[in-house]
Amino acid sequence: MAHTNNVQPTLNDIVALCKRRGFIFPSSEIYGGFAASWDYGPLGVELKNNVKQLWWRDVVTNSDNVVGMDGAITTHPRVWEASGHVEGFHDPMVDCKTCGHRFRADKLDEETCPNKPSKKVSECGGELTDVRNFNLMFKLHWGPVEDSANITYLRPETCQTIFPNFKNILTVSRMRVPFGIAQVGKSFRNEITTKSFIFRQREFEQMELEFFSHPDEAKKWFEYWLERRKKWYIGIGVREENLRMRQHDADELAHYADDCYDVEYKFPMGWSELEGIANRTNYDLTRHMEFSKKDLSYRDDITGEKYIPYVIESSAGVDRTILVLLSDAYDIDQAPNDKGEMEERLVLRFSPQVAPVSVAVFPLFKKPNLVEIARKIESDLRGPYRTMYDETGNIGKRYRRQDEIGTPLCITVDYDSLDDHAVTIRNRDSMEQVRVGIDQIHQAVADQMKSMCSSI
Ligand code: GAP
Repeated sequence: MAHTNNVQPTLNDIVALCKRRGFIFPSSEIYGGFAASWDYGPLGVELKNNVKQLWWRDVVTNSDNVVGMDGAITTHPRVWEASGHVEGFHDPMVDCKTCGHRFRADKLDEETCPNKPSKKVSECGGELTDVRNFNLMFKLHWGPVEDSANITYLRPETCQTIFPNFKNILTVSRMRVPFGIAQVGKSFRNEITTKSFIFRQREFEQMELEFFSHPDEAKKWFEYWLERRKKWYIGIGVREENLRMRQHDADELAHYADDCYDVEYKFPMGWSELEGIANRTNYDLTRHMEFSKKDLSYRDDITGEKYIPYVIESSAGVDRTILVLLSDAYDIDQAPNDKGEMEERLVLRFSPQVAPVSVAVFPLFKKPNLVEIARKIESDLRGPYRTMYDETGNIGKRYRRQDEIGTPLCITVDYDSLDDHAVTIRNRDSMEQVRVGIDQIHQAVADQMKSMCSSI
């Protein structure tokens, strides 16, 4: 059930919570950190895996016309010539001769001057170089010899390993157009501006679907995926009022796109792109045909028509989805402490589907007979649910710890449990506590979880 939140967190609130609770840490922290690089901790990786699994289940498993693949991160360099990235994957940049920093030339009004933090780069008076184009792909030498013949790139998007495999997958999967190929994996971009936590990184993960259709049906599938992708976000608990679909203006469209919408989210720093949904036309297959000299066209075995399919792409960022979920779930309300006094409570209102821990189980006191029952309940629930056992600190503190990591339900075993063979189940959002027989726990947990999921 959707919950109305009281606060909109700042990015600093989210960064602090992530570090404190083990969602995300600055990478290489003991060496002073590494620009725009973040490591996911125990809870972060659960959250991330849940997101990727939910995406895969929706886009691949629950579709009868989508199959998956997992391509290499490094590919033949011709892939990136064909895709247009070698020639055109640039950001315009300038260097400041005064402070020695590099900035996106088109973002000087937004960038803060490192020497004069109260001023933007456009107004700080630093002497800037002329604008130069900076290719965002990371170059590397493939093999033991470091010469120009061995140069290739880390992939800046996952989809370019899908297009060269179009024919392979068509053959082995026995699919017919319309059908899609999906992939989840790492991408790399040497971003000039890296800020906003995990929003813009140099190494990040994407969930991409390339859906191949007859050119005459591309518009229909484009609309279908627009609708379906928005529904997915709402289904995993994102509040609809924080999402919007923004169509690209003609001068904003990528060179390959006929039409494109960004799924935008109201991030702590403002509305920004979470996912792009584009009609890529037959640009990619055509280019890979030209560069590889291989035929990537499709022959319809019923009509006999031969054509180069159009591609509808849905390209979502895993890390941006994580930031969305953290931001959307973050809330502060009032809760009673052990003395019954009301105090502030930080709570993540994750949908149970994404919550890193589904159920926490506590013995009220660390007494062997209570511990034994609590441990048994926890191990019985483990598997169907992601569980956590905690016996340290007073019960109020334990609830607070679970609230802060978004655990939907807590189960407490107390002395009465020894007689009535029942436990208390406490709901994170309503804070209501109900007494449930130990033999009824599975059903009660399932019912409460269901009621906390989005209705979509
Ligand atoms: N294949 C199309 C493509 O890659 P994109 O708009 O450049 O399109 C798609 O990227 C998504 O990938 C974005 O909407 C965003 O969620 C994610 N993304 C792109 N660059 C990113 C970065 N530097 N850090 C984190 N996520 C990024």
